[in-house]
Amino acid sequence: MTKTRSRTIDSKTQQFIVVLNITQGGRFKELEQLQELLHLVESNGYEVSYVAMASVKTPSVKTYIHEGYLKHLKDVCAELKPKIIVCNLALQARYHRNLEKALCVDFMDRTELLLSLFEKRATSTAGMLQVELARLSYMQTKLVRGWTHLERQRGGIGLRGGPGETQIEVDRRLLRERIHKTKTKLDRVVKTRQLNRNKRQSERVPTVALVGYTNAGKSSLFNQLTQANTWANDQLFATLDPLVRHVHIPECHQPLLLIDTVGFMRDLPDPLVTAFRSTLEEMIYCDLILHVVDCSDPEMAEKTASVESTLVAIDADDVPRQMVFNKADLQPSFASRKPGSCVVSSLNKRGVQPLVEQLRSWLTAQNQT
Ligand code: GTP
Repeated sequence: MTKTRSRTIDSKTQQFIVVLNITQGGRFKELEQLQELLHLVESNGYEVSYVAMASVKTPSVKTYIHEGYLKHLKDVCAELKPKIIVCNLALQARYHRNLEKALCVDFMDRTELLLSLFEKRATSTAGMLQVELARLSYMQTKLVRGWTHLERQRGGIGLRGGPGETQIEVDRRLLRERIHKTKTKLDRVVKTRQLNRNKRQSERVPTVALVGYTNAGKSSLFNQLTQANTWANDQLFATLDPLVRHVHIPECHQPLLLIDTVGFMRDLPDPLVTAFRSTLEEMIYCDLILHVVDCSDPEMAEKTASVESTLVAIDADDVPRQMVFNKADLQPSFASRKPGSCVVSSLNKRGVQPLVEQLRSWLTAQNQT
């Protein structure tokens, strides 16, 4: 049976995106995940015009959601004419295909949404190549799962080869070739990055990386510390490539290099984790990690743990770490019991000066070793 619950957000919105949230019981965690999905949709520049909530205990054979709710969705689509339906689940290819056919609207899952967001935000050559690689691996998984209408849906990736080669075989071959080419280009860029890193290490410039969950305020703090104008925005993944800047701390002869890194997020799809590993690898080679945490976030503990476990996964757990609790203006009574941690507001600059002082002491200690 499909139990249904729906909510119209703004039926007057012109840029219609319908979010189809399929739950298996409507638990609290799933509502949190819905919020994150809505944030992702908005960060992509779309407006959500309707949220359809379907609770499916046993999927229907053809379209996953049941006939009654499908009819309701058809009515919604007829009225709102959405550009895309974003679904929280990565549905199997046949469900995906049948739903698109029944509703005459393109479907997008969370992975595609993330890929499209990453594509919009990547600016460096390495970032763009990494996203391209992630997109190609994603397309490959779709082909493996029998995504035979890929060329119809996305315009195809090539022409038919020799006699007897089917379109799907051509697509698979061309995908493999493109993946190989992209990897080769990326290898070259990674080597250049490695050379730059070696140069920094040989010049013995201490390096500090800002890491943290997406939207914690890393770019805002980076701006405060460097007075630079990196892009700080209330959107997910405003930063995709590591930014490196020289920081001169007053009355300190030794400059330091500050790196702003890509934001963490739980349950990153595999192709993205693989593609972004080299971005995160910058952290292994730095001298200090400032772990920026949004102290006003109700999910602070969970997100902090998720960042910490990723640091372990990329072997960066033995780099010295300092917690920086940001957005203190939204949580004025917040106090940290973590030794050496700082409580700051990148917005009103409260606590930034004590953080600079701490960095000065750290730099002095570094010079003495
Ligand atoms: P990603 O690039 O997604 O990883 O985000 P980020 O961690 O770099 O966050 P960013 O600096 O882009 O800030 C996210 C949002 O939080 C923006 O709207 C900022 O204006 C806001 N923000 C950052 N710091 C503070 C703060 O101290 N207080 C308040 N109230 N808002 C802040």
